[in-house]
Amino acid sequence: FAAITPAVAKTYVVGTSADFPPFEYIKDGQIVGFDIDLIKAIAKSQGFDVKFQDISFDSLIPGLTAGTIDIVASGMTITEERKKVVDFTEPYYSANQAVLVKKGSGKNVTVLFGNHKITVQTGTTGDLWVEENLEKTGILKGKVTRFDTFVLAIQDLINGNVDAVVLDTPVAKRYMAENPVTMVAEIITGEEYGIAVAKGNKDLLDKLNKGLKEIKANGKLDELLKKYF
Ligand code: ARG
Repeated sequence: FAAITPAVAKTYVVGTSADFPPFEYIKDGQIVGFDIDLIKAIAKSQGFDVKFQDISFDSLIPGLTAGTIDIVASGMTITEERKKVVDFTEPYYSANQAVLVKKGSGKNVTVLFGNHKITVQTGTTGDLWVEENLEKTGILKGKVTRFDTFVLAIQDLINGNVDAVVLDTPVAKRYMAENPVTMVAEIITGEEYGIAVAKGNKDLLDKLNKGLKEIKANGKLDELLKKYF
């Protein structure tokens, strides 16, 4: 007799920090967002399956290295530092950093100087920018607090515990549309997001780049951009 083995699609584990609307966030208990749909579309085009894990942003790269996750889709900026330990796809979105304050607080860009309290998400490019430009230079005389998620950082801002949150502009705009917070400055960092895999995982990286290229060409990417932005 002939044994018929159905072709089983490989399932890759995608790590994300689901606190970053509209890229990844929790809605009705589900992880949803632009990055989630993006990786699903790529997976579909390349014939693999994905499942998602919500983990803190600074655990994503260690997760790739340890092999507990295969892919990071988390609005992650392609940086030289990160490229030493992981591989990135071609860029798929551009962003800068923004400064958010509580609405009606009367605060402005001067919250970055002097005796103020700034909040960031641990391990993000916003965290690094604040460290390099405000902490190390002594421009900021106050204190920087670091949170695992932006949900907590924004909550702290709304509660009046801190003066400002520094985070990616597209996400700042989304938080601003839905919360009593307002953007007072943009820091032009010129970042580009990429999808990351463990260093040297060429097979998977090639599939992701191929899929990305395909969804750029067939209009799927534009469709997702329209849906989320
Ligand atoms: N783009 C920034 C970075 O790479 C922030 C990304 C944060 N992503 C998230 N899902 N919370 O550091």
